[in-house]
Amino acid sequence: MTSVAERLATVNESRTAAIQAHIDRAIEGLLASLPDPGRLSRDERRGIIARYTAVLEGNFIYWMTGAYISVGSDEARAKIMDNLREEVRDCHPGMMRRFALAAHAIPTDTDAQAVYRNLMNVRLFIGRLSPVPTVVTMAFFEGFIQRFMPYLAELAARQGSEEMEYTDVHGICDVTHTQELFRALEAEMALEPPMPAEEMYEGVDLLRALIQNIVVDEVATN
Ligand SMILES: [Fe+2]
Repeated sequence: MTSVAERLATVNESRTAAIQAHIDRAIEGLLASLPDPGRLSRDERRGIIARYTAVLEGNFIYWMTGAYISVGSDEARAKIMDNLREEVRDCHPGMMRRFALAAHAIPTDTDAQAVYRNLMNVRLFIGRLSPVPTVVTMAFFEGFIQRFMPYLAELAARQGSEEMEYTDVHGICDVTHTQELFRALEAEMALEPPMPAEEMYEGVDLLRALIQNIVVDEVATN
């Protein structure tokens, strides 16, 4: 006979499998929409790197810290802290800046302004500190970043850069890391009643709009 706790664990496991599938589809959709680097002008390539840098350099650690503050389970806290430790210890914002500098793509005021509204939407969402939607959003973000790295590296290479530490470090497909993240999500879901999909994926939708804004330099309307 299975205990109530075991049955709940099984339910949460299948719910996180569905969430992982949803996130994978969102990432695939974004990747499929990326413009061919060979057809972009030098300025368009610079713009994508600059807007990506404007968002990532100062916000990734901030948002991951928001996730840390929001979660209630030891599993999720431990997983997020590992990530934060690596970000700070290896100075990922510095890595990001060196990448942009070498590609002649340091963000300007105009680049920052171009992503302002969508960036603010994600900031306000993270500020609500809702545990499950925040962890889902950061899982989507990490998954996207990892799959986006070959594209970003190609843009930089076409700008004449050979500085690829940022894309090398973030492009490694870490299966264990992803599994741990979804186990952390399971632990968080065990603490909360089920929620409607629109609440679960609100942050994913806002972050997807921001990423579209980075890539196409216009505010996504959907
Ligand atoms: Fe990083």
